[in-house]
Amino acid sequence: MKKGILLSGGYGTRLYPTTLAMNKHFLNIYSKPMIFYSISILMLANIKEILIIAFSKDIQSYKKLFGNGERLGVKIKYEIQDFPGGIAESIKIADKFIGNDDFSLMLGDNFFYSENLTKILSAAVKKLSGAVVFAYYVKNASEYGIIEFDKNKKVKSIKEKPKNPNSNFAVTGLYFYKNVAKKMISKIKPSKRGELEISSLNNLFLKNNKLDVEILGRGVAWLDTGSYEGLLEASNFVYSIEKRQTLLINCPEEIAYRKKWIDKKMLLKSANNYKNSSYGKYLLRISKESLYY
Ligand code: DAU
Repeated sequence: MKKGILLSGGYGTRLYPTTLAMNKHFLNIYSKPMIFYSISILMLANIKEILIIAFSKDIQSYKKLFGNGERLGVKIKYEIQDFPGGIAESIKIADKFIGNDDFSLMLGDNFFYSENLTKILSAAVKKLSGAVVFAYYVKNASEYGIIEFDKNKKVKSIKEKPKNPNSNFAVTGLYFYKNVAKKMISKIKPSKRGELEISSLNNLFLKNNKLDVEILGRGVAWLDTGSYEGLLEASNFVYSIEKRQTLLINCPEEIAYRKKWIDKKMLLKSANNYKNSSYGKYLLRISKESLYY
């Protein structure tokens, strides 16, 4: 799979008043902006053509961070969503970008960290017959899309933010789709809150027996970053690990360099771009080390 949509708009109302002034995806999770973490996941899935969808007022800022992707050895394009009409609407907006290909959809505010994540992702792409979603056991089930199981523990449906959830398995914000999703999107109607829900699309795949649900186990961290508390928790998590290992979590330049999508010269260009920040110094350090870990 070569194409991925990175959905990075939305009002981020849980983070008001901050998000009245700026989009939440630019907020820092400890050492880098939120969007760095989610773009890294697409890159770890070996996706090299990325479409960023965002408010028109924010596109310039995303371009400042990523440009056309050359610095990361990928191709980045941009499309506008000026009213948050739902996550599934992004597939309509991305129609031209998707063309005849299968694709992935990543929510810009989702944070994943795990050993073997690359393997988990490539296994999911391999088994794709219609759609693949990932489920994660959480406490606050009514805040997410939730997998409902029947008596035989078979997936029955996905309910968006159910008041009385019948399981604790939340659907995370990373989805893989066959191209047919483009056609199926025309069959779904806006929900009561006026959004084209991604859960409606996933339920259609389920009805056709074409939905795979992969459970992410205890060794995976999937964190919420949409509230002040969530942001702080995610920052603390990143801080603990980065301080202990002195290796950055989800640093897109490093991922590109280790995958050999960019050479040392390009890495140093980024390092220079970030000047004297510890992020810039880290890139400089990586460029000098042998890549044994
Ligand atoms: O994070 C996983 C959850 O994401 C899933 O469990 C739910 O099924 C799914 O509906 C979604 O729920 P949220 O309520 O958390 O979605 P939220 O509105 O916060 O948006 C998620 C991301 O997508 C965020 O980065 C903003 C962006 N977004 C969202 C919408 C609705 C857009 O860029 N445009 C939109 O129209």
